[in-house]
Amino acid sequence: MKTLLVKYTPREERSTSKKLLDAFRNEIKNSEIEVLDLCVDVPDMFDVKNMNVYIHRNYLKEEISSEQQKVMAKMDAMTGQIKSADIVVVAFPMHNFSTPAPVKAWFDSVMLKGQTWDAADGKYFGLMNGKKALILVSSGGLYTKEPMIHWEHALSLAKIEFQFMGFSDVRGILNEGMNAGDEIQSENLRKSIDNVRAIAKEWYGI
Ligand SMILES: Cc1cc2nc3c(=O)[nH]c(=O)nc-3n(C[C@H](O)[C@H](O)[C@H](O)COP(=O)(O)O)c2cc1C
Repeated sequence: MKTLLVKYTPREERSTSKKLLDAFRNEIKNSEIEVLDLCVDVPDMFDVKNMNVYIHRNYLKEEISSEQQKVMAKMDAMTGQIKSADIVVVAFPMHNFSTPAPVKAWFDSVMLKGQTWDAADGKYFGLMNGKKALILVSSGGLYTKEPMIHWEHALSLAKIEFQFMGFSDVRGILNEGMNAGDEIQSENLRKSIDNVRAIAKEWYGI
């Protein structure tokens, strides 16, 4: 079994989303672990060059040259990496009500047609069935109640991306209120860590 831990936690040791990921990692006893640090290994974004190659290769199924292939190399490597994992855990803070740009670029990199999802007869389907995903998001504010519930596009977006790719079990923890005062922060972080440990125990049977 292989577990891929994807992190974007630029506050490093002060990061509460890193604390959640560390809590998960500490529970894993029986899996190969691979770590992708998006602060170090920054994903490519689609530009004119790689979008052109992606469409001709993945949608139009045309032959492309080895030179053209090179512009997709990083996206292809990240896609191969997620395909090789049985369990994927992604940890990041909420930035401006959504996923930080490198996390979105990672999703764009791995959600390649014909690799992690496909379409036929006007219908879309995921290709990652049988795999599990856990999303760990820390936010400064609180989003579980009206009206702020409608402003949360970080965890909700990441969940949809994994569901679209066909992951069979998609879980998410919104570790909210990290800037809502010391009491709320420590109580919510404690609860989130408990939830993380419970999911790890359930998934790894320990
Ligand atoms: C650039 C930036 C944008 C942020 N945007 C939001 C936001 O839209 N909503 C929110 O609740 N918190 C926001 N925050 C606060 C962080 O989500 C919060 O501090 C979180 O705990 C950071 O995660 P970390 O502890 O893993 O570093 C933002 C912080 C930064 C630095």
